[in-house]
Amino acid sequence: MRSESSALPRRLLVTGGAGFIGSNFVHYWCNAYPNDRVVVLDALTYAGNKRNLAALDRQENFRFVQGDICDRALIDQLLQTENIDTIAHFAAESHVDRSILGPAAFVQTNIVGTFTLLEAFRQYWEPKKTANYCFLHVSTDEVYGSLSPSDPAFTETTPYAPNSPYSASKAGSDHLVRAYYHTYGLPTLITNCSNNYGPYQFPEKLIPLMCINSLIGKQLPVYGDGQNVRDWLYVGDHCSAIDVVIHRGVAGETYNIGGNNEVKNIDLVQMLCQLMDELAPQLPVRPCDKLITFVKDRPGHDRRYAINSTKIKTQLSWTPTVDIQTGLRQTVEWYLTHRDWWEPLLSKEYQEYYRQVYTQTSEL
Ligand code: NAD
Ligand code: DAU
Repeated sequence: MRSESSALPRRLLVTGGAGFIGSNFVHYWCNAYPNDRVVVLDALTYAGNKRNLAALDRQENFRFVQGDICDRALIDQLLQTENIDTIAHFAAESHVDRSILGPAAFVQTNIVGTFTLLEAFRQYWEPKKTANYCFLHVSTDEVYGSLSPSDPAFTETTPYAPNSPYSASKAGSDHLVRAYYHTYGLPTLITNCSNNYGPYQFPEKLIPLMCINSLIGKQLPVYGDGQNVRDWLYVGDHCSAIDVVIHRGVAGETYNIGGNNEVKNIDLVQMLCQLMDELAPQLPVRPCDKLITFVKDRPGHDRRYAINSTKIKTQLSWTPTVDIQTGLRQTVEWYLTHRDWWEPLLSKEYQEYYRQVYTQTSEL
């Protein structure tokens, strides 16, 4: 949505910019568009990490603000004082297992927080209605529910059927964003993407959890029969997709973003084990797959996700560039060389979370 003022630098508010995808996006954007202004708003929950952005601290066009997306006064003030034209909204509670343990925070941040941002942006945008303003809402394929092995992949018109408190809260936020376009004409865009992986992903998610547990000799817990399928998207490809949507997307539209890498969980874990055996010089347990343990399934566990990205490919000329073998190798290498990043995250709080999830699902 760049129209006639395409050459003008943008002024972005990036919510959740200290999290996994948000921080990758901020690095991507600052590198691609050094003349743009990037303001990060992040509450620094357990999943937020200021160290993800340390390399940008001294850059003039970058600012970090610690704060909550539910804080309306703070958002009003940031929009005005920073003269924001683009919101890239990543902030969310993002982990399905945590949403099963405690859904309230998911409703608060994902629904109330998104509503707060939309209202603030609407009241800020309405008096001027400037052409290149936009509100990009980052959402997930999980809103579409679960596929059987033979179902066609999700398209932008697949009916919503969320199955976890997390995906239900994301679905709620998507509906609000859609309504703000149709009711008020607010220039919104929605992206629904598949499972991301890459650097800076918090240890609780499948790929970092398997890498880190291998390195510390802990069991590798695979839920259920391990036959669930996810479509893996390298985080750098996700960032380039958001870039094209911000610059060329049509207001009011939704774009699905997938990696074209459908893999069963057990196969993915086996691939990770092989990479660990090859790349990690001192594994406590070798071969690494001796640590694989099948544990009780996640409640309501979606069987398969798959994304049809035809719309973004044909209309916006985007395509993913990183295949799963290359992306996994890069990711394993990153976790191997960034022990100083992940070790402090295995905190008492994390151990307590781990105990709750994995003693409910197994005897680990
Ligand atoms: P993450 O959990 O790593 O990061 C979330 C960030 O949001 C953290 O920095 C956290 O501190 C911040 N945050 C949480 N609550 C906040 C609040 N109330 N106010 C301000 N900041 C707050 O998440 P992620 O994996 O980077 O996901 C980013 C977005 O992408 C989310 O909206 C998620 O639903 C979506 N998404 C993620 C994936 C994935 O595979 N990780 C896939 C599809 C969509
Ligand atoms: O599809 C997009 C979604 O991908 C995002 O919206 C979510 O924010 C993100 O967390 C992710 O959700 P998943 O539930 O698919 O990701 P997770 O990494 O938690 O799990 C991936 C698969 O691996 C899933 O089928 C559950 C399984 N799993 C996960 C963990 C943590 C295991 O078998 N064992 C585990 O210990």
